[in-house]
Amino acid sequence: MKIEDCHNVDDLRRAARARAHRMVFDYIDGAADDEVAIRNNNHSFRAFEIVHKVLTGAEQVDLSTTLLGHRLKVPFFLAPSAGNRLFHKDGERAVAAAAAKVGTIYSLSTLSTVSIEEIAALTSTPKFFQLYVWKDRGLVREMLARAREAGYAAMILTVDMPIAGNRERDKHNRFTIPPKITLRQIWDALRAPRWTLDYFTSPPITYANYAARTKATSLARFFEEQLHAGFGWRDAEWLLGEWNGTSVLKGVVSPADAVRAAATGFNGIMLSNHGGRQLDASPAPITMLGPIRDRIGNDAELIVDGGIRRCSDIIKAMALGANAVSFARPYLYGLAAAGQQGVERALDLFVTGLKRDMVLTGASSIAALDESFIRYKA
Ligand code: FNR
Ligand code: LAC
Repeated sequence: MKIEDCHNVDDLRRAARARAHRMVFDYIDGAADDEVAIRNNNHSFRAFEIVHKVLTGAEQVDLSTTLLGHRLKVPFFLAPSAGNRLFHKDGERAVAAAAAKVGTIYSLSTLSTVSIEEIAALTSTPKFFQLYVWKDRGLVREMLARAREAGYAAMILTVDMPIAGNRERDKHNRFTIPPKITLRQIWDALRAPRWTLDYFTSPPITYANYAARTKATSLARFFEEQLHAGFGWRDAEWLLGEWNGTSVLKGVVSPADAVRAAATGFNGIMLSNHGGRQLDASPAPITMLGPIRDRIGNDAELIVDGGIRRCSDIIKAMALGANAVSFARPYLYGLAAAGQQGVERALDLFVTGLKRDMVLTGASSIAALDESFIRYKA
């Protein structure tokens, strides 16, 4: 499937499936247990309808949005994702470059396969650094210092992954990072010749910010060995002190947690269940936006993360009071399908689609969206 024939996220998903090794596609596409949460994340948007307004004269639309003091050209930014060079040889480089082209924020995962410094130097647009907390506090300090030094504009602390969720596709595929191309995977490798050729002709894939580790392990095992599952609110306070800059807490769905996050000093909160990859029974982020906004008012900026597949999803979240939205799979499908060109296609579909849907909604700017545009179907 040619990338220019991809007209929506589902097309990109099919193109990714056609190019990538099965274990790689499943790692991106898959989620925990019965994969209920990932489906809910998206389907929950359908409970909200956009009550479009007519004769508003909206013709040219302004998509720009302010998030944590940064002016973005669009109301979305790129959620952090691990291991991008596994999906396509250009990995995080391709994604960061595409984000800069549309004028939005790129967030780099702790577990990236290109280093903090290299990504920082690649583009001049603002970037966020996502942190997982290591058992070794020295390593946490070192990563924060590197991110600060390299000029990352905010730190995103991800807290919905104290341990890895139960991702059964990865287990069936015996997926490890870096991958072990075992005998049982050779058939899949032959069916994905372009991915396989890239894989064997590119530098070895490692977690670039953490050079000490080279052994292939499952994510579950890696998290258990390296990351600090017992990390609590007190530790989060310590971390904010160490970072001493703009901060976002990622993985919140409980209103009480949101209140505590704002009181602890986080400037932004990413309403997220990790794209359904962690606790399969957790609620869709979009359904928690209203309850959380009601509880915290304007004490923190709110980002809806997960389930964004159509431009109308973005309009709904913004009308319901989000400061921005984020997504990962839509751009990762693009990356796995066609590298930077695929990521650009994914982002372009959102930009052009948003312009169209805003005119159809009857709103000339993102700032003009409010709850009067929304009906809840119940
Ligand atoms: C992720 N996500 C993620 N989050 C994070 O904080 N650090 C990380 O390293 C990763 N890695 C990662 C890898 C892959 C392959 C995926 C699909 C996701 C979660 C991500 O930031 C985001 O919360 C969800 O992916 C949002 O859901 P959608 O938009 O992908 O459905
Ligand atoms: C994942 C991690 C690494 O979701 O965030 O795979």
